[in-house]
Amino acid sequence: MGLKLVINMLLILMAISSTSASRSRELLGGGVFDVTSGKYGAKPNSDITQAIANAWKDACASTMPSKVIVPKGIYKLKEANFNGPCKAPIELQVCGTLQASPDGAQLSKPDTWIMFSYLDRFTLSGTGIFDGQGQQAWKANDCHKNPKCSSIAINMRFHSVKNSLVRDVSSLNSKNFHVNVLGCERLTFQHFTVTAPETSVNTDGIHIGRSTGINITDSNISTGDDCISIGDGTKQLTITKVTCGPGHGISIGSLGRYPKEEPVTGIYIKSCTLSNTMNGIRIKTWPNSPAASIASDIHFEDIIMNNVGNPILIDQEYCPWNLCNKQVASKVKISNVSFRNIRGTSSTPLALKILCAKGLPCDKVEMTDINLKYNGKQGSLTSQCSNVRPTITRVPNPLACATKS
Ligand SMILES: *[C@@H]1O[C@H](CO)[C@@H](O)[C@H](O)[C@H]1NC(C)=O
Ligand SMILES: *[C@@H]1O[C@H](CO)[C@@H](O)[C@H](O)[C@H]1NC(C)=O
Ligand SMILES: *[C@@H]1O[C@H](CO)[C@@H](O)[C@H](O)[C@H]1NC(C)=O
Repeated sequence: MGLKLVINMLLILMAISSTSASRSRELLGGGVFDVTSGKYGAKPNSDITQAIANAWKDACASTMPSKVIVPKGIYKLKEANFNGPCKAPIELQVCGTLQASPDGAQLSKPDTWIMFSYLDRFTLSGTGIFDGQGQQAWKANDCHKNPKCSSIAINMRFHSVKNSLVRDVSSLNSKNFHVNVLGCERLTFQHFTVTAPETSVNTDGIHIGRSTGINITDSNISTGDDCISIGDGTKQLTITKVTCGPGHGISIGSLGRYPKEEPVTGIYIKSCTLSNTMNGIRIKTWPNSPAASIASDIHFEDIIMNNVGNPILIDQEYCPWNLCNKQVASKVKISNVSFRNIRGTSSTPLALKILCAKGLPCDKVEMTDINLKYNGKQGSLTSQCSNVRPTITRVPNPLACATKS
């Protein structure tokens, strides 16, 4: 009797432990990891740094596709590292608002709030907001005049992320660049939003460098610095249906400032609208470059300018704050650049300026169907070109290299 009872109890215990084992296997096998579940314990209006880190760790270890969810609500997030490699495709769905600390001093890496790295088949989704709370940092930013200024946090960094998608989320008031893409391949930003005031400092929307196959589409970027900036080593970049403004426009460069820069090539910018930006579409390279480099196969098509300063600009004498020797030409070779169907209004009379490097002229520059108006009172519409002989088709005279220098 006693023995039978003991055996029965043992059998029951074994059954219980085997179901709980299979349950935890199921969890490890994939599924949904909600940071507000009992296991992770995140609560709105409190800090969820640890909860997110724990949920990510479990999801990333899953051998089946998994998803980490941050539901609606406002949460504080000191910092986050979404690092891989993970064992299977993984998604982070943020529906709430994540708030950084206004003071960047407590970050483990002062230049990073949120890091995504070494990921493959990753999706960042949701209608959530990544709020960098940058107001205080912009006031303290003296990096334009102090080369040794302390580093300032970028809202989101993507390093070595492949075959991945960022969609629907927003980046708000970053302390520094909103997004930095480095060493990535086949990463798409779709229906992405960047918002910061026109007066915010160094808040580039998306900066890309040393990456191949990046797509940015259906996105709105309003900020205080470049809408999208494209650094060395960017290849096969497509930007379509993006609206920019306010901000400084879409910029390739600056290039040619450092040794060992990789070529920028295969850049397609199509069906974009710029409104009230300081510049339109530009390529800028530093004079007196330490080494030769290349910018080629760069195509701008169907771009609308609304009250944009310097709508079309290639500047190989880019030298802000007089930090360089303008007497020595840039060594960045620019070739195969086209501007097709660019129209709208310029806020400066000089609406097209193509200043190429002396002794290293720009090759194969095409201008077709350029139609820009200037309605201000600072003179009449004009253009300026040097060290370039563009192919010009259907461009009114004032815009067709009216002055040469
Ligand atoms: C961008 O703005 C346009 C016009 O206001 C809007 O229709 C579109 O949905 C916005 N896109 C995103 C990603 O919010
Ligand atoms: C990127 O955009 C191009 C042009 O629209 C498209 O052909 C390509 O498939 C896109 N790539 C990805 C990964 O979405
Ligand atoms: C110019 O760029 C286009 C698009 O990338 C490319 O197909 C073409 O071969 C390039 N032309 C030259 C002469 O390099």
